[in-house]
Amino acid sequence: MRILAIETSCDETAAAIVENGTKVLSNVIASQSQIHQITGGVVPEVAAREHIKVLPYIYKEALNKAGLSWADIDAIAATETPGLISSLLMGIQTARTLAKVHNKPYIGVNHIAGHVYSNWLDRKDDEFQFPIVTLTVSGGHNNLYLMHSVTEMELLGQTQDDAAGEAFDKVAKMLGLNYPGGPEIAKLATQGNENAFKLPIPHLQNPFDFSFSGLKTAVLYLIRDLDNQLSNETKADIAASFQFTATKALADSLLSAAKTFKAREIHLAGGVSANLRLRAQIEDSLSLAKSDLTLRYPNLIEYCTDNAAMIAAAGFRDITNKNR
Ligand code: KG4
Ligand code: ZN
Repeated sequence: MRILAIETSCDETAAAIVENGTKVLSNVIASQSQIHQITGGVVPEVAAREHIKVLPYIYKEALNKAGLSWADIDAIAATETPGLISSLLMGIQTARTLAKVHNKPYIGVNHIAGHVYSNWLDRKDDEFQFPIVTLTVSGGHNNLYLMHSVTEMELLGQTQDDAAGEAFDKVAKMLGLNYPGGPEIAKLATQGNENAFKLPIPHLQNPFDFSFSGLKTAVLYLIRDLDNQLSNETKADIAASFQFTATKALADSLLSAAKTFKAREIHLAGGVSANLRLRAQIEDSLSLAKSDLTLRYPNLIEYCTDNAAMIAAAGFRDITNKNR
């Protein structure tokens, strides 16, 4: 089954075609990040107007790149929630109209489920071993799931305030770095000492919940205590110390959930799963414990951040599960 999906939940206009939830036939992404750099963040109305302007070019390119026509498409999917309402509406309306015109079923997809299934892209169904603990972590969400099978998931915990990606973006802004802040912090952190500053991370009642707003405020106070006089070296040390603390909190929860629920695989997904320090913390802990757990993150960086291939993958699970 081939699904053409559209994703417009935030500031990426994306369309993709995926076969049977795994084989990516095309994946087209137009980022608005340059537009939003001027304001240091996404202005919803600006994002929505840009989506509607470029969408027809993007889904046509997805068809062209896959070498397919509408007759080859079995269903049309779009991200329905969560996200910026005005942006989501542009994708939903477009997908619903295309479904009607071309007489295909329409599938409304949850964006976070999309991130979960991004780990299935360019892989084969029979590679996976359950149970799996999955962390979806980006600018808008920070959830920990236990997957009993490819379609059964249980929410173990979530952020009580900011998502980790949001904290990366806000700390980057404090350091005068560009938006989106995650890759900028990661780059600067390679020149810093991650033990330079000890930053706090709270322990919550549910060990699988997260909280990043205190960490963000601690960086704000640290910068204030340094009288806002930051040398390039100090900035790099702050970036590295922040990145270490944030990624350690994520890795610790994930590893503890894997142990508690006797998981056979650990999955990272979402924009922050592109972070190499996060991946390394988990890999180091697994090798230290001589664990045979499999760590997976999306096959390509463009599958970590928002994309439509993952929406097609989640749409496939939705439609095949309902038809069972
Ligand atoms: O999944 P995504 O594209 O959008 C949302 O669903 O929110 O994630 C974007 C987030 C941003 O906060 C961005 O700063 C963060 O992912 N991000 C990173 C990295 N690359 C993107 N955070 C840390 N390290 C990275 N390498
Ligand atoms: Zn996302």
